[in-house]
Amino acid sequence: MKDKIKYVLLSEEEIDSITDFLAEKITDDYKNSDKKLVLVCLLKGSIVFTGELMKKISLPLEVEAMKVSSYGAGTVSSGAVSIQLDLMRDDLDKIDLLIVEDIVDSGITLSKICEHLKGKGAKSVKTCALLDKPDRRVVDFEPDYRGKIIPDEFVVGFGLDYNEEYRNLPFIGVLKPEVYGEGAVNS
Ligand code: IMP
Ligand code: MG
Repeated sequence: MKDKIKYVLLSEEEIDSITDFLAEKITDDYKNSDKKLVLVCLLKGSIVFTGELMKKISLPLEVEAMKVSSYGAGTVSSGAVSIQLDLMRDDLDKIDLLIVEDIVDSGITLSKICEHLKGKGAKSVKTCALLDKPDRRVVDFEPDYRGKIIPDEFVVGFGLDYNEEYRNLPFIGVLKPEVYGEGAVNS
């Protein structure tokens, strides 16, 4: 698996210090809130990041999950977001929602999810992304918490996949172009 990686973009140690920094900031920002903090893990890419982040947030919290699909085919977003698993709560006006995402690319996924949750009555919705590729943005969106800005390269590992593989790599790496090639299919 590692032989398919062109280079390591973020080592385990670097990811660890980024999650430390994010968790500390989140703890500080929410510590005086009178609402319960609820992390929303966006399946499946954010599973690993959510797990690491939640261990480091020193506040009472709950975890929920949502699943959306924004990618039709290829390594470029289709622009269409469909909700496959919605947030099932009846106390949306009484909780602080923090959407946890692996990477912001076009920005469509997170902006649509925020819009959707606010439409359902959520009063406090923020976003936390481990990685951000601002060069690829097609909508006006900035995450509230951002781990690291990265160049416009397709990355895998630490939850991020290519065709469902590589999520279990402990670091984040750039795939060799020959792995996906021209017109390869990604999910
Ligand atoms: P957006 O809606 O274009 O911002 O897409 C965000 C989603 O695209 C992320 O949740 C990832 O699932 C996927 N994605 C974007 N860039 C990458 C990448 O470099 N590697 C793996 N998945 C990616
Ligand atoms: Mg994702």
